[in-house]
Amino acid sequence: MSLKREIERRRTFGIISHPDAGKTTLTEKLLLFGGAIQVAGAVKSNKIKKGATSDFMEIERQRGISVATSVMGFEYEGYKVNILDTPGHQDFAEDTYRTLTAVDSVIIVIDAAKGVEAQTRKLMEVCRMRRTPVIVFINKMDRPARDPFELLDDIENELEIQVCPLSWPISHGPDFRGVFNIFEQKLNLFTTEDKQRLGESIEITDIFSGEADKYIQPHAVNLKEELELSSAGYPAFNKDEYLAARLAPVFFGSALNNFGVRELLDCFLQIAPSPGITVAHERRVTSGEEKLTGFVFKIHANMDPNHRDRLAFVKICSGTFERNKPYFHTRSKKSLKFSSPTAFMAEKKSVVDYAFPGDIIGLHDTGNFKIGDTLTEGEDLNYKGIPSFSPEFFRYVENADPLKFKQLAKGLDHLMDEGVAQLFVNQSNGRKIIGTVGPLQFDVIQFRLQHEYGASCRYEPLRLYKACWMESFSKSQLEDFKMRKLLNMAHDKWGRDVFLAETAYALQMAQEKFPDIKFHFISEF
Ligand code: G4P
Repeated sequence: MSLKREIERRRTFGIISHPDAGKTTLTEKLLLFGGAIQVAGAVKSNKIKKGATSDFMEIERQRGISVATSVMGFEYEGYKVNILDTPGHQDFAEDTYRTLTAVDSVIIVIDAAKGVEAQTRKLMEVCRMRRTPVIVFINKMDRPARDPFELLDDIENELEIQVCPLSWPISHGPDFRGVFNIFEQKLNLFTTEDKQRLGESIEITDIFSGEADKYIQPHAVNLKEELELSSAGYPAFNKDEYLAARLAPVFFGSALNNFGVRELLDCFLQIAPSPGITVAHERRVTSGEEKLTGFVFKIHANMDPNHRDRLAFVKICSGTFERNKPYFHTRSKKSLKFSSPTAFMAEKKSVVDYAFPGDIIGLHDTGNFKIGDTLTEGEDLNYKGIPSFSPEFFRYVENADPLKFKQLAKGLDHLMDEGVAQLFVNQSNGRKIIGTVGPLQFDVIQFRLQHEYGASCRYEPLRLYKACWMESFSKSQLEDFKMRKLLNMAHDKWGRDVFLAETAYALQMAQEKFPDIKFHFISEF
């Protein structure tokens, strides 16, 4: 098969949702369709169980499982589908943000009773920033749900994107009858008898003619009214607008009952983008270019404490990856060869000889890789866009065992490469500060330092509002600022200046006093 054809048939995407909206259930149903798993329940184990939110041992256990479900690839009707898993737990949001840099599109799952929730809003910000095309699946229609118009309004307002319903629900809750598939002009009736099967699907030439009424009484009149209102109120589907991330097609269904999932998948395969252009600092790279390029978006380390094994997840952006061929690691300027690159097919890992744009491969690593690293065939290229976001929680980290100073430094270094948290070094006193997205991370770090590096650390509380990366239009103003705020200045892992604002007010004062400096909550701007 030609490289062009391999690219065209690839769909690499992520499913995002607020916890409990149904991401795991939907993932599982998609895998069932793809024949990648045979029984329901296979994906469930990746979830951090409710009630385990403060139990980091449980999280350690889950970490082992999550490597298997990080990427789930399967073949379906000629397409190669790669689903990239994103952790549902909000303390791991940073990991999700990074994974979103490796997808070509996204499916957002929303709970029909709840509408848009906090975590979805945040993740959508990342999609918007990267102009990632999104499709929305409104789930749990078999339960009492909010009015469809209200839900669509909610999505438009909260996620700041124009919506375009491609299916319409017929009632909801115990009275849920199915959906009218606007995209295919079919009526799909809902039955709960056999959860692995689809309900009946009836082709309709004109829903307004009454030909479908008998199947959906007493809701026929209401459905037609709603369809009329909807076609007047929402734009018709336009693929270019979707691909430009300005229009989100919306489907209704029930993942648990396997309802509306096939429509979603079929439409997704037709319209979702295959890998296109990836932006590097030096230039834009097209997936069809002959030479291999790719970047590391995730590192999974030390699954076995006895072996320092790390698995770097690389998204192929262009060309063909070949096993045992030397590639250029642009940050270290080293040539590296990989004898056992791993492909991920559902739960199984296997060694691959070739991989194509859109594919994710796992490379065994002995410490060469950091998140964001680029591989090429010799070109000095550095992919953009693995941003760090300002952490929400900060603590000073101190060595608790003077004899293990080196181990601590090494452990911290590795964990930061892996993206577990961010490390800042205060510019005035050299003290190390760890910043995380959730408080759970501190426990994870302490535990892993102890178990994997034999180092022990102690935390000291530190109240900070945000870490701000800076951009300045006036060099002298920046120098002046850094001098005055030296106690609050730090370096990030790349040596960039970061202002650690103690409060929102302190940041506001800084913004007012130093108008030529721009403060960003994200490291790429
Ligand atoms: P998440 O990954 O987004 O966190 O959500 P997950 O799929 O685990 O779903 C959360 C809960 O919602 C699960 O129930 C799941 O069975 C249920 N669910 C998912 N889709 C639907 C749907 O279409 N209809 C209904 N009624 N429920 C749905 P749970 O009781 O929390 O977990 P479990 O005991 O079933 O594993």
